[in-house]
This record gives sequence, structure tokens and C-alpha cells, in this order.
Amino acid sequence: MNNSENALISLRDVHVFRGETLILDGIDWTINSGEQWVVLGANGSGKSFLMSIVSSFLHPSGGTVHMFGKELGQVNVWELRSHIGVVSDRLQAEYTGDVGVLDVVCSGFYSSVGLYREVEGWMQERGLEVLSELNIAHLHQRPYRNLSHGEQKRVLIARALVFDPQLLILDEPCNGLDIPSREYFLQTLSDLASGGKHIVYVTHHVDEIMPFVTHVLLLRQGRIAGKDTKEQVLQEHILNDALGYRMQLLKEDGRYFSLYRGMNQ
Ligand SMILES: Nc1ncnc2c1ncn2[C@@H]1O[C@H](COP(=O)(O)OP(=O)(O)O)[C@@H](O)[C@H]1O
Ligand SMILES: [Mg+2]
Repeated sequence: MNNSENALISLRDVHVFRGETLILDGIDWTINSGEQWVVLGANGSGKSFLMSIVSSFLHPSGGTVHMFGKELGQVNVWELRSHIGVVSDRLQAEYTGDVGVLDVVCSGFYSSVGLYREVEGWMQERGLEVLSELNIAHLHQRPYRNLSHGEQKRVLIARALVFDPQLLILDEPCNGLDIPSREYFLQTLSDLASGGKHIVYVTHHVDEIMPFVTHVLLLRQGRIAGKDTKEQVLQEHILNDALGYRMQLLKEDGRYFSLYRGMNQ
């Protein structure tokens, strides 16, 4: 039975080509209500391309994508985007110049980087509300580029949350954070997940997989190498095959840790 109409996101046989290169190959993936996903894969495995599709910024070269019951390509993407908040490094790098924190947050209303339209009073109020929820309201007048890396990430989460989206997509959000900042950030995500937000968390580190995560999609060279509950996918032999190196996987208090044991032969 095709349940794509009830799922949050559903991809069927999705392919992406860049020139002659096949970047994503035959991706079938459904995110159902109540599931919290991690997308795990080595550098270059296609994670960010997949996230561009799931957040409606890229149309696949083949296959179909349903988002919140609507088929991508048949509906206004702006309507779809209001259901989704995105945090990525690329986005972080795009905010240059003297733009202030509250303007960065309010640009989320337009799913844009720049503010091409005027920010209305209610938008600023909502922006401040979200900054307070993330405990960073005191930063609202600061220039974004002067913030620490960790503070910038939190501001981007605020930007992603202004619409109160159903789904939050985080593409390697902890890159460049020191361990305390990373843990603080991951705790915030856990709180958002307990508050009912759906999260897709992209990483290549098993250490960042929090207990709230229920499912893992494993990518290897643009193909699905594993797609199941967290416990099924996070096993040494499966990860070793997909990531291309041998690791010892440790588990404690619902968190995972990996010890590098050398490259695959
Ligand atoms: N224009 C392009 N032509 C061919 N290959 C590309 C192009 N852009 C990106 N790629 C390749 O696509 C693959 C997937 O990229 P990406 O989704 O960014 O990987 P990840 O996010 O998992 O690190 C990479 O191997 C990258 O080299
Ligand atoms: Mg990437």
C-alpha cells in the first residue's frame, strides 16, 4: 500500500544526476509521524543533496517526492517550505556583513538569506520569542558575524523555528563546535524533539546520535546502505561496510561512541 499521503515526507526511486554523475541512486525513504531520523554517511555520500530534496530546494532528476501529502512539483514550494526549517553550514556561511541577529532570525519568514521585504512588527516579536525559547534573546541586537560559532548555530535554529515548522532538518550542525557547545546544542535538539518537533539530523559521527533518535538512514556513495530502527542500523559490521573503515562501536546511556580501528582492506 502506498502510504505516502499520510507520511511527512516520502521519496520513491529518487535519482539525482549532475552531468553524467549519478549522485543519488534509487532512494526510497519515508518519514512517518513520530519518527526521528539520523542520516549517516561518509563525506561525499550524498547527504546534503538528499537534504536539498527533502527541504524542497532541489527537484530530483527522477522519482517522486511527497511532502506533507503534496507532490513536489505540483504545489507551491513556498507553502511546503513553511512546514520545514533548515540549518546548514552553507546557510551559516552565507550570512556575511553586518546583518543583525534578529534580522537573521526574521529572514526565516521568507526562507531567504537576505531580507528583501520589510520585517513587520509581529515578525520581530515572534523572532524575539523564539530567541528567548533558545535562551539567546540577549544576543538579538548583536551583529551575527561577531557571535561564536555555537551562538551562530543557535541563531540559525531560531531562524528555522519562526514558522513553527513540523520538521527541522539539520545538516551537520555540530561541525566546528567544541564538545561542551556540541552537547549544549544536542540537548536543545532533544528538548525540541520532546516538544513534538520532528527532526532529521545529518552527520558522519555516531557520537552525535542522541537517545531521542528512533531511525537511521545510512548512505554510501549515493545509495541506501541501511534504513531501519537505530538499533538495527547501528551495528559494527553494517557501519564498517558503509563508512569504509573499521570501528569499534560502544554504547552507553543511550549514546554511541566509535573507536577507529583502521581502513577496510
Ligand atoms: N556538480 C557536481 N558534479 C558532479 N559531482 C558533484 C557535483 N556537486 C557535488 N558532487 C558530488 O556529489 C557527492 C555528494 O555530495 P554531498 O551531498 O554534498 O555529500 P555529503 O553531504 O554527504 O558530504 C559528492 O561526492 C560530490 O563530490
Ligand atoms: Mg554535506
